[in-house]
Amino acid sequence: MRDIEPFHVMALLARARELEAQGRAIVHMEIGEPDFPTPGPVCEAGIRALQQGDLFYTPALGLPQLREAIAAFYRSRYGVDVPASRIVVTPGASGALLLAIAALVDPGDQVLVSDPGYPCNRHFVRLMEGEPVGVAVGADSHYQLNPELIAQHWGARTVAALAASPSNPTGTLIPAEQLKAMAEFADRRGGTLIVDEIYHGLVYDGDATTALAISENVFVINSFSKYFNMTGWRLGWMVAPAAYVREIDKLAQNIFLAAPTPAQYAALAAFEPGTLEILEARRREFSARRDYLVPALRQLGFDIPHTPQGAFYIYAGCGALTADSYAFAYDLLEKAGVAITPGIDFGNNAPERHVRFAYTRPVAQLAEGVARIAAYLGRR
Ligand SMILES: Cc1ncc(COP(=O)(O)O)c(C=O)c1O
Repeated sequence: MRDIEPFHVMALLARARELEAQGRAIVHMEIGEPDFPTPGPVCEAGIRALQQGDLFYTPALGLPQLREAIAAFYRSRYGVDVPASRIVVTPGASGALLLAIAALVDPGDQVLVSDPGYPCNRHFVRLMEGEPVGVAVGADSHYQLNPELIAQHWGARTVAALAASPSNPTGTLIPAEQLKAMAEFADRRGGTLIVDEIYHGLVYDGDATTALAISENVFVINSFSKYFNMTGWRLGWMVAPAAYVREIDKLAQNIFLAAPTPAQYAALAAFEPGTLEILEARRREFSARRDYLVPALRQLGFDIPHTPQGAFYIYAGCGALTADSYAFAYDLLEKAGVAITPGIDFGNNAPERHVRFAYTRPVAQLAEGVARIAAYLGRR
């Protein structure tokens, strides 16, 4: 437990809520979930499931129709054939990450993770008594793991490398040819590449390639939380190599029995053309927000060497503005009423010189946030 840290941003969010209760208007640029409600057709499918009352446990690997629907989505969106038998429906990507790491990691095994990266990854590895190895990534590697970094850090005890593309907190993508080289390297070393594709769909310049198009030996993690706007439904999935499915079934039965049944019925509507149309309009809105916020932050003095291609995050260097991003984030909240996430939540690689902005608010609110930051920087 000593190695498991809380999300530091939660304390900042709690302070923001306190200020709001006192009547202050806070601009939220710290929140890591879409501000859009779950699309209507998905809610309606969920309501129908509740009314019909078929709310018993599903098989641990998921509702068969939903596994088929996810396989069909891989065919239609990516042109990739993935048998439904390799698809495991989970309580969020969180459940999928837990299963993948539990299946792969023995005590003492090492897993390479990017630093900065999604904080839960290293905690999942620790939970299995493994050792997360943070690999510092920066502007020169587009804030991502790449084949060279993996080769450089892969040791005798390494069993896996875990990458997210697009990444939280950096929004950057791993190009397809690099993913391929990373998967091949892991194969050669008898290890596994895990790719978290939770922000797929939220990509604004071109499209992301799924790692499933590249290799059958990778674990791919995904979720209904972000692109599908279903965070609170707690539903995600994993595509596992065929040889692991039996083991994962066993683990899922033991750890959570099954993903939530109403959510699984609701998600059957997530891939319908009407829903996808709603989601594509929202993707365009996220894209417009990014296109507004990146240059605006650069103008304020934040360092953003690469325009992030996806997710809804901007990981910005704030070294020219402060030597302590944590104190900066709190001061900004108190004095300007703008909430952002300090780098400390994402690892040990110069967190004091970075902050994360989430563009999970309409452009008008982002513009209000930018104006407030400008005024705050002007009067400090
Ligand atoms: C990179 C990444 N992976 C996984 C998750 C977990 O998401 P969920 O369990 O809601 O699917 C998140 C949530 O923020 C994330 O950013």
